[in-house]
Amino acid sequence: MGSPQNTILVDRHGQEPWWKAATFYQVYPASFKDSNGDGWGDLPGLISKLDYLDDLGVDCVWVCPIFESPQADMGYDVSDYRKIHAPYGTLADVDTLVRECHARQMKVILDLVVNHTSIEHQWFKESRSSKDNPKRSWYIWKPPRFDEHGNRQPPTNWRGYFAGSTWAWDETTSEYYLHLYAPEQPDLNWDNPECRAAIYQETMRFWLDRGVDGFRIDTVNKFSKHADYTDAPISDPNSSLQPAPEMWCNGPRIHEFIHEMNREVLAPYSAVSVGELSNTPDPQSVLPYVSAKRQELDMVFEFSAIRLGNGNLFGGKYSYQPFTLPTLKAMTSKWQRFIDGTDGWTTVFCENHDNGRAVSRFGDTSTHEFWRRSAKTLALWQTTMTGSLFLYQGQEIGMTNMPAAWGIEEYKDIEAVNFYNEAVASGDQARIDKTKHGLSILARDHSRIPFQWSEEPNAGFCSGEASPWMRVHDDCGTINVEAQTGDPESILEFYRGMLKLRKKHRNVFVFGRHVLLEPEDEHVWIYLKEEQGGDGASTRKRALVVMNFSREERPLLDVAAALGCEGEAARFLVGTDGVESKISSLKGWEGRIYCNFEVAV
Ligand code: GLC
Ligand code: CA
Repeated sequence: MGSPQNTILVDRHGQEPWWKAATFYQVYPASFKDSNGDGWGDLPGLISKLDYLDDLGVDCVWVCPIFESPQADMGYDVSDYRKIHAPYGTLADVDTLVRECHARQMKVILDLVVNHTSIEHQWFKESRSSKDNPKRSWYIWKPPRFDEHGNRQPPTNWRGYFAGSTWAWDETTSEYYLHLYAPEQPDLNWDNPECRAAIYQETMRFWLDRGVDGFRIDTVNKFSKHADYTDAPISDPNSSLQPAPEMWCNGPRIHEFIHEMNREVLAPYSAVSVGELSNTPDPQSVLPYVSAKRQELDMVFEFSAIRLGNGNLFGGKYSYQPFTLPTLKAMTSKWQRFIDGTDGWTTVFCENHDNGRAVSRFGDTSTHEFWRRSAKTLALWQTTMTGSLFLYQGQEIGMTNMPAAWGIEEYKDIEAVNFYNEAVASGDQARIDKTKHGLSILARDHSRIPFQWSEEPNAGFCSGEASPWMRVHDDCGTINVEAQTGDPESILEFYRGMLKLRKKHRNVFVFGRHVLLEPEDEHVWIYLKEEQGGDGASTRKRALVVMNFSREERPLLDVAAALGCEGEAARFLVGTDGVESKISSLKGWEGRIYCNFEVAV
């Protein structure tokens, strides 16, 4: 407990908040560790693994939703924010989690899902009960439209995230309610001040008073909708439903709401906040959310890089679109550089619970050797970038997508199931095949299968007799924590070392300026990280990150010239192959860092 490397490191000059140099680790609790043999991960299971996270170098644990929920969307449909979904444990378990994290100098943040509730939430039950219920306007209700044949139609033509309309018909009062996600997830009406006050009190202060350190805020830029509720333009002529994110993302009152939330709740508790910011690929629109002086959010997740390969975000999401390394580089640089010269902050991540595994998408899983090498190169990439670093459970051992041979019945996620069923209903075999292919790369299910702890039955996630809620990966015998612990060549040990190195040189890696070199190179990715401020350009610390994103050996550039120093002043800092082997070239999927500063031995 309390290993010294986890003392939370503050910043370059002692002035920065803790969360900037922190390593966050996202836990998907249903799949992390089951303690009682019901095949569903739980809080006692998570608590039993805190030493593992502490040893890895984690500073803050983000726990995906654990609140009471009918689980239409894995807990992103909350029926009571102040209760725990029984299979996860109890309120007392959360108290223990908070205490045990803090005892290890770790922080803990929860997932705040307040764009919508579950239909089972008391607020919605009241809202739907009658048109004059005091909570009627806590949700978004609209009368039907009628077409020329007199058939009832939803108020607008919007397509939701999980296929189908964003409107559900409710018999009781003969009106539709808005749901951007599943019909079981009705959208709250943030325009109603009583509703906002209840959110602040019951979903935020309640947990901050119990000691949690902040929130990852779900769908944060959808709280304010455009109030006119008009049809979206037709962009998909083959469908009666149209993508309409501009109708509900970054709406007219969004900055007012988030600033209020900050003033009312986040700031008084010094709570950290990281918002999920979808459909906002423009730096000028993102900056207001994260600019320190505006007092909204500490940081956000922007998805341009992690969404590479996705088709059009709505109907075509699972129609896979291949992309090149220069595109990944460009997206990465854009979101590394967007804070340059501003008071904003950025995040670094390549996995989460809504996407396929990074090594299967950006790396190479064609052989065991390429899998191991490419996962380490991805680790080098992530741990040398500017911003707060977020790891997703299993990334540190190179967990891969579910095997391609698994059938569609292994996909449990509402989004995957709905898209697949929609393709089947179309009767178009080519569309079905395309959707299956896209799902095999991009589905949210890939990151949700049980964590691989050991080669024991069920990968040590749950007991051998239990039936895990999702199938355990066929490769768990070789890809697991136990097999990698203590192996100097392993992905896990590489991450452990890199997380230490990142903090040791945090002025370069966490706070440095990112400069992309050779943007058009299709195989090798090279960037500089440069300390900011200091005594002047000539003495500034610099690191050069060179990574071969291909199987073939590739020539190495003139390292000293790239670092802007004399030959002998350029030093090898670390590499995925341990030692610097062939000086003049990089092996397939090899990554190295060179620097212009003294390397302590
Ligand atoms: C966010 C979550 C995702 C969920 C959705 C609806 O995008 O990350 O898992 O389905 O919001 O709450
Ligand atoms: Ca359990």
